[in-house]
Amino acid sequence: MKKRKIAPSILSADFTCLGEEIKRIEAAGCDEIHIDIMDGNFVPNITFGAALVRQIRPLSQKPFDVHLMVTNPEQHIHAFAEAGADIITVHVESSLHLQRLLAEIKQLGKKAGVTLNPATPLCMIEEVLAEVDRVLIMSVNPGFGGQKFLTNALERIAKLAKIREEKGYQYDIEVDGGVHVGNAETIAMAGADVLVAGSAVFGADDLELVIKQIKGEA
Ligand code: DX5
Ligand code: ZN
Repeated sequence: MKKRKIAPSILSADFTCLGEEIKRIEAAGCDEIHIDIMDGNFVPNITFGAALVRQIRPLSQKPFDVHLMVTNPEQHIHAFAEAGADIITVHVESSLHLQRLLAEIKQLGKKAGVTLNPATPLCMIEEVLAEVDRVLIMSVNPGFGGQKFLTNALERIAKLAKIREEKGYQYDIEVDGGVHVGNAETIAMAGADVLVAGSAVFGADDLELVIKQIKGEA
């Protein structure tokens, strides 16, 4: 089986020492840094904006995986691209002109990801699968860390992996929400390439060990 990656979500980090938290996950072997942008409108919670991404950018060499949970994402992609995002993922539910939005993200020189809520059928993104760099399967309803993994994600991951193989598409498959040491293997076996984990990583006594375990290396 190919190696799986981990993208810790800084949503669950200690914000009073965010810089240290980022250095800690980097030293512990994370592959990407997942940054949850919430606007209090598309989702009930509010987190951070492009200014924060810009400030933490010099602290890490790892790709910044920016997950936009906002309405009107087209109004924000430029700011996040300039701030140092490497991958920008948008929700199909908030993107009226999804194809154009994804093309714009690529024109900005960034990887373009698409994601969908647990209740949104996979066919809603079918027409853009040929051109996305990443598909993010939400395994919780977005808005908060620490929720329970919704198992319908497993079937969706497997379907996406099958479509990718059949059609020769290039996207990677990322999973976000409720990932922990106990289910990481099952999720990876279903076909996921990148696992996001927030509370499981930052709530751990031994963060380095948990990162290794979620990656299947310990
Ligand atoms: C949920 C966010 C997730 C969240 C994951 O809206 O998109 O990235 O931080 O947190 P855990 O791993 O605690 O479910
Ligand atoms: Zn996320």
